Amino acid sequence: MHRDDYVAANRAAWDAAAPHHKAHDQFTKLARGFAQPGFSCLDRTASERFAALGVSGRDVAQLGCNNARELLSVKNMGAAHTAGFDISSEFLAQGRELAALAGLDCDLIETDLYKIPARYDAAYDLVFTTIGVHGWMPDIGAFFAVVARLLRPGGRYFAYEQHPIVGMFDEARPGDPHRPVSSYFAHEADEAAEGLDYFGNAEYPAPVKYWFQHTLSDIVTAALASGLALEHLCEYPHNISTEAHDIYENQAAQFPLSFTLVARKLDEDTGP
Ligand SMILES: C[S@@+](CC[C@H](N)C(=O)[O-])C[C@H]1O[C@@H](n2cnc3c(N)ncnc32)[C@H](O)[C@@H]1O
Repeated sequence: MHRDDYVAANRAAWDAAAPHHKAHDQFTKLARGFAQPGFSCLDRTASERFAALGVSGRDVAQLGCNNARELLSVKNMGAAHTAGFDISSEFLAQGRELAALAGLDCDLIETDLYKIPARYDAAYDLVFTTIGVHGWMPDIGAFFAVVARLLRPGGRYFAYEQHPIVGMFDEARPGDPHRPVSSYFAHEADEAAEGLDYFGNAEYPAPVKYWFQHTLSDIVTAALASGLALEHLCEYPHNISTEAHDIYENQAAQFPLSFTLVARKLDEDTGP
């Protein structure tokens, strides 16, 4: 399949999930939260990392922003211009509702990340992704090329992502969900037809979707190859993905469940 076909399939899958996410009390809580000044949905790890990066007065973009809950939280931390990019018009519509409730000005742009128009090039001091965006990317190298072109020289990319090791497990596996079921090094697209309602677990006729395993070294190497310099990489034992993955926390033989990465776009004149 061509990259565009994977993206089109995933767009349909995310749009179909949107009404289910909206019906869940997670959305009600966000709506209630964003109606209060300064609300943030960010957990401690993300909040500390954004504070260390310094978002106040900075122009910030989120790739795969979904309903923009994190981007709006960053805006509430004092970011200047904020832009969220996503393929799902349905989730972006929810993001616009949350932004209106918060009274925040935030551009939410419907686009395939691989096709973000050139007018956004070098427009951001900080570009970030969180909680399961890398795995939706059929081509991680091309993804980082987009990150690099959106950043100003000296700007930073921040990822707070599910650890790729989690991709080896299936929490719904009957019997032993702790036994790996697929290779860490799998490179074929993982085709699945379950829905994406990871809040309410609603069953509905879900379009087929495609997930891609990228190892940690695939991710770091792609970042370096795009002209970014690695500044920070940290692995954590806590789960940031669907609650069903909580069963992998607090194990005697713990594997990493999430990671943060910060990489800086090199200044053109200083080089590496
Ligand atoms: C797991 S969600 C991100 C969740 C978000 N970090 C949060 O916690 O609310 C992944 C998002 O990536 C978007 N996405 C997947 N492939 C994309 C692509 N090729 N271009 C743009 N957005 C994409 C999906 O529409 C979805 O909203």
